[in-house]
Amino acid sequence: MQKKELLYEGKAKKVYLTSEEDKLIQEFKDDATAFDGAKKGTISKKGEINNAISAYLFEYLENYHIPTHYFEKLSANEMLIRKLEIIPIEIVLRNVAAGSLCARYNIPEGKVMEYPILEYYLKDDELHDPMINEYHAYAFGHATPDEMKAINRIASKVNAILKSFFDRRNLVLVDFKLEFGKRIKDIYLADEISPDTCRIWDKKTHKKLDKDRFRHDMGGVDKAYRELRDRLMGD
Ligand SMILES: Nc1ncnc2c1ncn2[C@@H]1O[C@H](COP(=O)(O)OP(=O)(O)O)[C@@H](O)[C@H]1O
Ligand SMILES: [Mg+2]
Repeated sequence: MQKKELLYEGKAKKVYLTSEEDKLIQEFKDDATAFDGAKKGTISKKGEINNAISAYLFEYLENYHIPTHYFEKLSANEMLIRKLEIIPIEIVLRNVAAGSLCARYNIPEGKVMEYPILEYYLKDDELHDPMINEYHAYAFGHATPDEMKAINRIASKVNAILKSFFDRRNLVLVDFKLEFGKRIKDIYLADEISPDTCRIWDKKTHKKLDKDRFRHDMGGVDKAYRELRDRLMGD
C-alpha cells in the first residue's frame, strides 16, 4: 500500500489517495481553526494526539459493532481509512449544555440535559454550517430516511458507549460532532473523534480538556490535549 497524491486538504487534516482504490490516508495536522476559520493557530502535537485518540476510540467502538471507516494507525499522525462518499451533514450530540446551544436557547453552560439532543448542521463553510433537520437532508438529496435512521441509531449508540467510557475516567462527554459516509449501501462512521470535535470536561472540576481552550484563549491548550490523551489511553 503506497501513499499517493493529496485528495483534499481541510482545516485539520489532509486526505491522500493510496494505491488501493477503496482506501485513503488521513493525516492529522497541528493546525487549529475556530469560528468558521476566523481564528487560526496551531496546537503543539495536536496531529499525533488526535490521531492517537481517534484511532483508539474507533477501535473501541468497533468492539461494540459500530461500523467505522478506520483500518489501522500507520504512523504518529496518519491512519488508513475506508474511502467513503461523505454525507455533508454534521451530526451533533449533546448531553450537557455548552457552546451555541446556550446562546440559542438561553441555557446556562453546564446544565445537564434530561435527554440527549441530536442536531444536524449542513457541512458548508461558506454558509457557516447552518442548522437543518432530517427533512432538509431528504429534500437536498443528502440522505434517505433509511440512511438517516441508521445514522441516528449509530450516533445514539456511540453516545451511550463513549459516555460511560469517559465517565469511568472521571470525564464528562459534554457534546460531540460526528460525520458519516456511504460505500454502496453501507453507512460508516467517518472523520475523527478527538478533542477538536468533542467537548470533554473533568467530572469534578469541570476543567475543559478540548478545543474550547483554544476557541476562548483559555491557555494550557497543548497541556490539556496531552492530559486528555493520557487519561483516555493511560491504562
Ligand atoms: N472515510 C472518508 N472518506 C472520504 N472523506 C473523508 C473520510 N473521512 C473524513 N473525510 C473528509 O476528509 C476531510 C478531513 O479534513 P478536515 O480537515 O476535517 O476537513 P474540513 O476542514 O472540511 O472539516 C473532511 O472533509 C471529511 O469530511
Ligand atoms: Mg473537519
